Amino acid sequence: MQASILSLVLVLGASQVVAQYTNQSAPFNLILCSSNATLNGALLGACHEGAAIEGLCPSIGGNASASYNQFTFNYTSKQTPDPVFGITGLLTWELRGGNFNLSSPMSISTSLTSNVAVPLFTPGSQFTSIGFDNDNMLFIPQYYDDTVVPPKFGSKPLQRWYACTTQDTYLYTTLAWVIGTQSPENPSCQKVEVKRVFV
Ligand SMILES: *[C@@H]1O[C@H](CO)[C@@H](O)[C@H](O)[C@H]1NC(C)=O
Ligand SMILES: *[C@@H]1O[C@H](CO)[C@@H](O)[C@H](O)[C@H]1NC(C)=O
Ligand SMILES: *[C@@H]1O[C@H](CO)[C@@H](O)[C@H](O)[C@H]1NC(C)=O
Ligand SMILES: *[C@@H]1O[C@H](CO)[C@@H](O)[C@H](O)[C@H]1NC(C)=O
Ligand SMILES: *[C@@H]1O[C@H](CO)[C@@H](O)[C@H](O)[C@H]1NC(C)=O
Repeated sequence: MQASILSLVLVLGASQVVAQYTNQSAPFNLILCSSNATLNGALLGACHEGAAIEGLCPSIGGNASASYNQFTFNYTSKQTPDPVFGITGLLTWELRGGNFNLSSPMSISTSLTSNVAVPLFTPGSQFTSIGFDNDNMLFIPQYYDDTVVPPKFGSKPLQRWYACTTQDTYLYTTLAWVIGTQSPENPSCQKVEVKRVFV
């Protein structure tokens, strides 16, 4: 019983494969909240990290109408809302090509050698489940807390977002996620929160 709950939780917590997340929200901007006045209010925009792969880079005074600064939330109305999280789903961004549009989900791939991970929009089916709380703040759902013994099951929205100098492909300041409860090991990281504002 315990083992099967644990595997379910691990499956839910890890990157998931896109099922039918075809309900889509209206477009929104993602805005940084930070105690650093230089970063506070910056727009997150999709920034090139490879062929059709984008990170999320803050820009001060960016253009809220530009398509690279607009995102959507894809979800399925078949999901039973979690009492704490509500509906969770995918953060999506549409790449506009010359003769195509391509919607990609955000996923955060982790490295075993750093606690700082970079969210990326990558075409395909891998995604990291996200949600927005009642204040429109972006969170990642935690289903299992192992900072206590014995580990505890329970829904908790986490906001371990930072703005860091990262080099996935290019050296940029990007949005990053810090794994675990410790401080980011990358000294450039500054704590931020990410707010959804519909356009
Ligand atoms: C999000 O939903 C829209 C509308 O159904 C769909 O066109 C798009 O492909 C979806 N994106 C992803 C990444 O699933
Ligand atoms: C989700 O999409 C389905 C199929 O298009 C539609 O019937 C349903 O009303 C949508 N749900 C919401 C909450 O928009
Ligand atoms: C505030 O953010 C800017 C831009 O990332 C950075 O250059 C500056 O050092 C930061 N200030 C503080 C006090 O951390
Ligand atoms: C902002 O983006 C919109 C949509 O792409 C464009 O029409 C407008 O000219 C841009 N404004 C500025 C100041 O660049
Ligand atoms: C891509 O989406 C934009 C905005 O919705 C639209 O104007 C354009 O025609 C689309 N391009 C294609 C090839 O579907």
